[in-house]
Amino acid sequence: MDYEQVIRRRRMVRDYTDEPLAASCVERVLASAPRAPSAGFSQGWAFLALSEPEDRARFWTFAATQAEHSPSMRNAPLVVVSLSHKNAYLDRYAEPDKGWSDRAESRWPAPYWDIDTGMATLLMLLTAVDEGLGACFFGLLPDQLIPFREAFGIPASYLPIGATTVGHRAAVVAPQSDRIAQRRRPIDDVVHRGSWGR
Ligand SMILES: Cc1cc2nc3c(=O)[nH]c(=O)nc-3n(C[C@H](O)[C@H](O)[C@H](O)COP(=O)(O)O)c2cc1C
Repeated sequence: MDYEQVIRRRRMVRDYTDEPLAASCVERVLASAPRAPSAGFSQGWAFLALSEPEDRARFWTFAATQAEHSPSMRNAPLVVVSLSHKNAYLDRYAEPDKGWSDRAESRWPAPYWDIDTGMATLLMLLTAVDEGLGACFFGLLPDQLIPFREAFGIPASYLPIGATTVGHRAAVVAPQSDRIAQRRRPIDDVVHRGSWGR
């Protein structure tokens, strides 16, 4: 698909059929994630890929609110949970070429572990669009994180920043709400050229 089309067509799709995904599509979506940039090339991320029906069913018990709001999201044949790994960044920047041997979090201008994991997730969203599929990123509620980690054996040092469904779009996908479709902020509202508000 043309690059402009991929960008323009990307939107969160919450309506899916249960048509299976070709294995090549699943692998292409997953393979796009680690192509993301990462601070110091730390690559402090991991991706829990759930495609077996029983694994996905188990996942949805921890995302019940989302499933209630958008029931056909459960049809999506692939759910990928993105996990950020802060320690990988603290370890990497404690190396001699970076020199932050105190591993102090106060040195970081922003939580790059979460940012980079988000960038990796965006690549999966875009790859799904390029494959002609739908995808949606959504958050997991804080009170679900501990039981979710336990259920899937995720180490405590990995933070689930959210999950992405990938699947074939339903024949009728709910239109984006007017609020979203019409209120994407204009370019000059968000880009400050040369100086803030000039
Ligand atoms: C960090 C983040 C968290 C989000 N959490 C949810 C969520 O919990 N549930 C949901 O349905 N959508 C969620 N979304 C999707 C947004 O609602 C959506 O991106 C926004 O409304 C713009 O619509 P669009 O992505 O279709 O253009 C999230 C998006 C981001 C980037």
